[in-house]
Amino acid sequence: MHGTQTQVVGRISRKSCRAVHISTYHMNMNSPFCISLKDVEEAQTYLQDMVHLTPVLTSSSLNGSTGRNLFFKCELFQKTGSFKIRGALNAVRSLSAGGREKPKAVVTHSSGNHGQALALAAKMSGIPAYIVVPSTAASCKKAAILGYGAHVVECEPSDESRTYTAANKVQETGGVLVHPNQDPSVIAGQGSIGLEILQQVPTVNALVVPVGGGGMLAGIAVAVKTLRPDVKVFAAEPKNADDCFQSKLNDRLTPNPAPPETIADAVKTSIGVNTWPIIRSLVDEVFTVSEEEIKQATQLVWERMKLVIEPTAGVGVAAVLSQRFQVLSREIQNICVVLCGGNVDLGALDWLQNPQEPASA
Ligand SMILES: Cc1ncc(COP(=O)(O)O)c(C=O)c1O
Repeated sequence: MHGTQTQVVGRISRKSCRAVHISTYHMNMNSPFCISLKDVEEAQTYLQDMVHLTPVLTSSSLNGSTGRNLFFKCELFQKTGSFKIRGALNAVRSLSAGGREKPKAVVTHSSGNHGQALALAAKMSGIPAYIVVPSTAASCKKAAILGYGAHVVECEPSDESRTYTAANKVQETGGVLVHPNQDPSVIAGQGSIGLEILQQVPTVNALVVPVGGGGMLAGIAVAVKTLRPDVKVFAAEPKNADDCFQSKLNDRLTPNPAPPETIADAVKTSIGVNTWPIIRSLVDEVFTVSEEEIKQATQLVWERMKLVIEPTAGVGVAAVLSQRFQVLSREIQNICVVLCGGNVDLGALDWLQNPQEPASA
């Protein structure tokens, strides 16, 4: 059994984070994309008192396995258990910005984490929230949404069914749809992770970011590539849901042809019209990993780092452990992996006792 060798790096205050982005503010005023660095910086200014500045941890054990210096940005410790609160809060802010009236309701479709995040963000602003969730979503995620006072609306596990059900709810409630990954204010909010990483790990050579709809990847890419074009931005996704890889390969948006089967449930969705142009231009490479690799990487982080990440976060770890990653230039030495969430459905682990049923003696 290996003991934990996890260390915290880059202990910085919110104030020093603020300094880095203000000094570089003018670099990208005319963005060809749906967001610019300025949008990410504005989001960060708003978010800095609302979300946690999550730590970056290292593990000498995992450094040893990869022969590189790995840095883990721990968004599993973020409010609601994933980075999604960043985009949700920024979206709710933008809906009532400039003295506009608050929306009657907010509606979204989400495999769970964005749903939880929007539920909390809406509650904080006193707005009713309706969250469309595939019937297959982890039960802990549905329970958390209900716990934040939002309404759960179940749909079939396909992109089409989510979109259709959410559109109906918007009509019914007179509310506003907050798309989990294509809404520009969501993308900008997620981009604040990139600004924090540049500050916490100034020597970083590459970031590895799991991709579903691509909101996190696109937001981070805009922030990082504008401020530090020398830093590589890599995407990681399951082989079974490889629309981002296929899109780059074909040089055109290529959604998953059917609902994918993967343990990384938060990245089953495909990239979309707003995130694709950013990913196409700014993301250096997409690494795909098998289901077995995702499981092994997730378990490795649980055991070695004592961090309860969800399998979607294991996708990024699996990418840096993969054969394909090994052949990357050794100049790419300092790599930051975004551990994007920690909402594990413990009830789905068949070796755990059901908390409702006391263990027999
Ligand atoms: C934990 C986690 N990681 C990654 C993703 C993928 O994010 P995006 O859809 O912005 O690519 C999600 C999306 O729900 C998520 O919940």
